[in-house]
Amino acid sequence: MKFAFMIERTLVILKPSALQRGLVGEVTHRFERKGLRLAGMKMMQLTDHLLDEHYAHLINKPFFQRVKDSMMAAPVIACCIEGVDAVQTVRTLAGPTNGRLAAPGTIRGDYSMSVQENIIHTSDSPENAAVELTRFFKPEEMFAYKQVAFDYLYATDEY
Ligand code: TYD
Repeated sequence: MKFAFMIERTLVILKPSALQRGLVGEVTHRFERKGLRLAGMKMMQLTDHLLDEHYAHLINKPFFQRVKDSMMAAPVIACCIEGVDAVQTVRTLAGPTNGRLAAPGTIRGDYSMSVQENIIHTSDSPENAAVELTRFFKPEEMFAYKQVAFDYLYATDEY
């Protein structure tokens, strides 16, 4: 069967705040229950150099070093998450940057009281997702297995 829609991949990082607060399972569970496919997952210690690249858009902000220190305070879990419109779907599940303003039911709305300690990073566009996934994952660390529930998650002409 040929499908007329595009599957996207996006990068999610479970930040040190997720790891230290014991929320890795809770957050991952939300993506699984939604029907998104986990294509890759690994624990890693972020470095100053990698964060200079990852947060390059914030380099001139006064809080740049604080954000980097927070991201290096403990290991993180990097995830490659896949689905139709995965980038926007994951952003919606995450909620806005400021956890205090995020709606209940979103990850940040349910688990965060902070702008910085906001549990997860999510790519903000398909273009940036492609760049970020290349930065965090080797090709062989992202897996292309068939999701058994696929035919029950999507219509053949999903739009
Ligand atoms: P940004 O990419 O703007 O937000 P998001 O993670 O929602 O895509 O910012 C990256 C991280 O920098 C953000 O998750 C938390 C931190 N940050 C601050 O600490 N203060 C700020 O004013 C902003 C905008 C971000």
